[in-house]
Amino acid sequence: MEYINLHAQYKKLEKEINENIKIVLENSNYILGEQVQLFESCLAQYVGRKYAITCSDGTAALQLIYMAYGIGKNDVVFCPDMTFIASIEPAVMLGAVPVFCDIDKKTYNIDPVCLERQIIEVINEGKYVPKAVVAVDFLGNPAEFDKINDVAKKYGLLVIEDAAQGIGAQIGKRMCGSFGDISATSFFPSKPLGCYGDGGAVFVDDDAIANTIMSLRSHGKGIDKYHNIRIGINSRLDTIQAAILIPKLKELPIEMEKRTVLADYYSKILNDYVITPFVAENNISSYAQYVIQVESREKRDELRKVLEKNGVPSLIYYPCPMHSMPVFEDVPTYNMNYDNSTHYSECSVGIPFSPYITKEEQDYVSKLIISVCKQ
Ligand SMILES: Cc1ncc(COP(=O)(O)O)c(C=O)c1O
Repeated sequence: MEYINLHAQYKKLEKEINENIKIVLENSNYILGEQVQLFESCLAQYVGRKYAITCSDGTAALQLIYMAYGIGKNDVVFCPDMTFIASIEPAVMLGAVPVFCDIDKKTYNIDPVCLERQIIEVINEGKYVPKAVVAVDFLGNPAEFDKINDVAKKYGLLVIEDAAQGIGAQIGKRMCGSFGDISATSFFPSKPLGCYGDGGAVFVDDDAIANTIMSLRSHGKGIDKYHNIRIGINSRLDTIQAAILIPKLKELPIEMEKRTVLADYYSKILNDYVITPFVAENNISSYAQYVIQVESREKRDELRKVLEKNGVPSLIYYPCPMHSMPVFEDVPTYNMNYDNSTHYSECSVGIPFSPYITKEEQDYVSKLIISVCKQ
């Protein structure tokens, strides 16, 4: 059994994907070909932002955002303690100070109360300048943007949505990728909208910031790429990847419906035995991962062994909270209690899931989980 069945998706979209790749090869327009612009306009429309600006990967999308807003030395970026390092890594590379906030016990997203507490601590200390919060749609579950935006507004912070795992997810009718001042996503192959290599995008409504990001992704270009007005980077989505993503984006709404039905199926079977994903009413998760939580690290180890023995892959997203990463050992914590992110990292495990998982596979996985987790 596969953890994420990418092959089944390819088989469904094979004809269109192959044809699209062939067109790029026939035209030899490998860099910023017309498929890139087409994909960008379809994606902007899907997400509900004025601009979708593609780039080389999700980490670069976040880097372009931090660069465009001039985030650097002594600026603080607040970040959930449970995420992938790329949410904050480019800001730190630019000289910013990361300040980690505990996550909510149920949603696993940044806890807005912890966010405000950390902002106040930074202000009271007076050493650094609070600048931005990066809120992650963790595992595909939308962050609590109403509350985050309120806190950010109160203290004048920029809100960056890291929607690397959240494309396809919704709060009400609004799509992830459209929250906060600006958003980033990733087209890493296993993401809800993945390409066949690396890719990413920035979503924004502001014309000036959009122009800055388009310049930054192309070596800080001015009127053209050999006329440079700022220091930028080389960060473009390959035309072939855009050609692959066009049919995948068309399929995404169908896949999202399947994800909800299949996740609900797992949850219904497993609810009495483990903690299943919590999605707030009116929200839709993209279920980039379907993660369950058991009572202890020992129980998780036991469960993973049984799954492995029976040919079922499982993965831990993520085993190490940011505050305990060796690279961040000197980062100020302001005595924040990271109980929820620590517990999450010790007791959670992702099980096989994709829009292409069969009910038989789900039944098989569930049976194994129940055999370990029933009292
Ligand atoms: C939350 C989050 N942010 C950022 C990234 C970075 O994306 P990429 O791998 O495309 O650079 C990822 C990818 O795993 C992610 O999960």
